[in-house]
Amino acid sequence: MLDRLTIKFPDDWHLHLRDGDAMAAVLPYTARQFERAIVMPNLKPPITTVDQALAYRGRILAALPPGLTFDPLMVLYLTDATSAEEIRRAAASPFVHGVKLYPAGATTNSQAGVSSLAKCTAALEAMEQTGLPFLVHGEVTDPEVDVFDREAVFIDQVMEPLRRQFPALRVVFEHITTKQAATYVTQCSSVDGQGRRLLAATITPQHLLFNRNALFKGGLQPHWYCLPVLKREEHRLALLAAATSGLPQFFLGTDSAPHARHLKEMACGCAGCFSAPVAMELYAQAFDQAGALDRLEGFASEFGPAFYGLPVNSRTMTLVRRSHSVASELPFLQGQSIVPFLAGDVLPWAVELASA
Ligand code: DOR
Ligand code: ZN
Repeated sequence: MLDRLTIKFPDDWHLHLRDGDAMAAVLPYTARQFERAIVMPNLKPPITTVDQALAYRGRILAALPPGLTFDPLMVLYLTDATSAEEIRRAAASPFVHGVKLYPAGATTNSQAGVSSLAKCTAALEAMEQTGLPFLVHGEVTDPEVDVFDREAVFIDQVMEPLRRQFPALRVVFEHITTKQAATYVTQCSSVDGQGRRLLAATITPQHLLFNRNALFKGGLQPHWYCLPVLKREEHRLALLAAATSGLPQFFLGTDSAPHARHLKEMACGCAGCFSAPVAMELYAQAFDQAGALDRLEGFASEFGPAFYGLPVNSRTMTLVRRSHSVASELPFLQGQSIVPFLAGDVLPWAVELASA
């Protein structure tokens, strides 16, 4: 039995950091475990321009505690009004690595999101021409569609027509949660004229480890509530198979999304699992359960950089089989706390300090 695993240092290709004091409180957890992260732009107000993205990046770097290195990879939030010029500016910036689609109303801070992709043709053409990745929250927002079906319906109604209309558009299907999405991404290994992969997907630790039963186990469990919501066991198994397949179109994206404890544990609780403090521990657990620890390095540390055209990290991380407890809560904003995902549980894998 493998009890110790050393891999190239990983990156998180889907992360929510927030801003201000909240960001300063959560940033160290990610910076300890990941060299880089794609930082989601769904702030209030959202990050819609390159100038805003660069200013936000500066605030993140300024909040980094001494002794930690971390490279925030910035993303623009697409709106109905995003111009082709702004997309070209983003593509030309070494600090902006994608454009995020939030269908309006799909999730936290998506009010300013896209009402119809038909309004974004010029921006999408610019992404297609420049190769700047389009990061897609893949759920339809039609209230008539069952919440557990919104991702599968999105593939037919939005993703496939979009990719037919823009055949060279480079897409990351973010935080996939269904076997339909896993199959859809598995089946596409196409590359563009420059050999860059056209379709990839990120997968969160909670969708690899849990199914929707976790939301209701012994009562309503707000800390398991995220969007897209956890699905049936058959979907979890399909995601685990995809993540551990060794296919380079699947890579790590935690979707760690911090919300203060009182905003999760309320009548209308916020969506998001704060997995950053234990992210690599959870991925190791999932890959171990699948008997695929030898595939963790590709998923966590190699396939993401390959998609985004970035070098792999030179330092390494060692994971060890050692039981340890997750904190029951952590300090957040003044007078508030935050509950990490799996608070109080004992996890089988631990991260050892990185070697230089
Ligand atoms: O659960 C989620 N939380 N899903 C999202 O898409 C957004 C995120 C957040 O920002 O809290
Ligand atoms: Zn997210």
